[in-house]
Amino acid sequence: MCGIVGAALEAGDVTPLLIGGLKVLEYRGYDSAGVALLVGDRLEIRRRAGRLDTLEGDLVASPPPPSILGIGHTRWATHGLAVDHNAHPHGGGKGSVAIVHNGIIENYQDLKRELEADGAVFQSETDTEVLAQMIGRAVDRGADLLDAVLAALRRVEGYYAMAAVSARSPGRIVAARNGPPLAVARGPQGTYLASDVLALLSYSRDVVFLEDHDVAELTADGVRVVRLDGSTVERPPKHVDWDAEAVGKGGYPHYMLKEIHEQPDVLARTAFERIDLERGDVLFDSPGWSDQELAGIQRVQVVACGTALHAGYIARYLIEGLARLPVDLDYASEFRYRDPVLVPGTMALAISQSGETADTLEAQRLAAKLGAAPVSICNVISSSLVRESKAHILTKAGPEIGVASTKAFVAQLTAAYLLAIRLGRARGVLDVATGRKLLADLRLLRPQLESMFGEHHLDHVRDLADRHRNAKGFLFLGRGINFPIALEGALKLKEISYMHAEGYPAGEMKHGPIALVEPSMTTVVINSVGRVADKVRSNIEQVKARGGRVISVGSDAKSHAIAEESIPVPTSSEWLSPILNVVPLQLLAYHIANLRGCDIDKPRNLAKSVTVE
Ligand code: AGP
Repeated sequence: MCGIVGAALEAGDVTPLLIGGLKVLEYRGYDSAGVALLVGDRLEIRRRAGRLDTLEGDLVASPPPPSILGIGHTRWATHGLAVDHNAHPHGGGKGSVAIVHNGIIENYQDLKRELEADGAVFQSETDTEVLAQMIGRAVDRGADLLDAVLAALRRVEGYYAMAAVSARSPGRIVAARNGPPLAVARGPQGTYLASDVLALLSYSRDVVFLEDHDVAELTADGVRVVRLDGSTVERPPKHVDWDAEAVGKGGYPHYMLKEIHEQPDVLARTAFERIDLERGDVLFDSPGWSDQELAGIQRVQVVACGTALHAGYIARYLIEGLARLPVDLDYASEFRYRDPVLVPGTMALAISQSGETADTLEAQRLAAKLGAAPVSICNVISSSLVRESKAHILTKAGPEIGVASTKAFVAQLTAAYLLAIRLGRARGVLDVATGRKLLADLRLLRPQLESMFGEHHLDHVRDLADRHRNAKGFLFLGRGINFPIALEGALKLKEISYMHAEGYPAGEMKHGPIALVEPSMTTVVINSVGRVADKVRSNIEQVKARGGRVISVGSDAKSHAIAEESIPVPTSSEWLSPILNVVPLQLLAYHIANLRGCDIDKPRNLAKSVTVE
């Protein structure tokens, strides 16, 4: 959820309000920021690559004229490098329009070709500029701003939260949503827009939450909402009475739900500034990861517990698949006592959210004693694990309060993906072009992840949870890189709903667990488009043939066609599919536990960090 802000004032100066709104969003990862201001009969656009304070410094050094209307944006690049000319806002037509956008325009190449054939000249490599040109050229030809936006959005395929201003429509902002959130509030000086309600609470607690395919027209007097077909729709404001604790939860009923929703930003922050698209490589912001320092590594030994171990399983697929380096993996509590044998040149990779898990710390210490290089993927910079590591990769999930780990897991998977690329490039197994492709795939993942938080997605998973809340038990099945996601889905459900659930390799089911299958059992099958999709479809048929109820989760539409119920997931690179596939499983566990009246953030018998044996 990159940042979008806007304001239409009766009087005053909008620039400080826009920057203040962007600051509220600044805990999210982004690589550029900008504002567009209506100054008399022209638009002034100021935008800079880099963090928000780079733009802020620019505005202080050369202050723009005062303005009562403007929009602002922080960007997480999906198309085009993080450089000034790719930053938002983007101008359109003859400069009469400025646009900010968050999301992905999937058909932007077709639209761009059409516009270039009609004489449009593009300044950037972004998909957003296509929207700016469509709207700007329509306004240049005399169209009203709202009509120009409606016409453009009717041709767009993909997801968006966007806002547009025009020098020809003074006093108006037109905004629209399909996927990433947008909210509007009427305050003391005018009307305000933001992609995160937290940026509106200082103006008002009565907030209009736009729905998918809403288009809003803001003026200083208020907001009018229409649908894409132009029909007016009522969107009464909802009162947001969050107290300080609730604001800590971002207005969500539980920390776990807030943390699930934070995952697109966590992915960006963990990957942000470490992606070097130019060199097709990864630049870790901590010592110990150079080609020279990695040259002697011949094998990796993963040690971790619980959810972190599931991330370790996926790290094994990534490191072996991308860096062609052999990986062993062990429950830390088992590794400690099995009298392990390590070969020279072993990297002991400990994965831990807290960095204080006793079993993981002791396993890492034992590996170091046996001559391994102790490194870690960890969420707490000041933890024992990081202090005792020769090198570390910090996950940037922020504090994870919910006992059931969610955003830290997605951050661990992101870090493992980056590590596999770094190892592959250091060993000469991955070339620049392949590195660039893998990193570009990671950049595209964020909007795909965001699209899974649209209202319709969330409602669908909640309904599914209601239908399966009384199942006798759950079986989670997955293959290949998604087998560990089956383990993680089962663990999430177990630890917060107290229902029995087992994760299994899909191919292993016929060797015993299939005896569990009956109509009272629910089997969740994770299947993504990829090498093993047809094999997993056969596993679905085997469960169905024994009367089992199947929920298919993933990007494989053929699996959805044969399952009783399904949760579709966007199609991504197979290497990154676990990051998308785990979200519906986290939400399924959350809603089942909530419906069963369980204590979501503090489940019985559990502790956030198991610092004892
Ligand atoms: C995850 O949902 C569990 N709360 C638990 O398995 C946890 O992952 C495990 O205790 C490891 O914790 P760590 O990541 O802090 O080392």
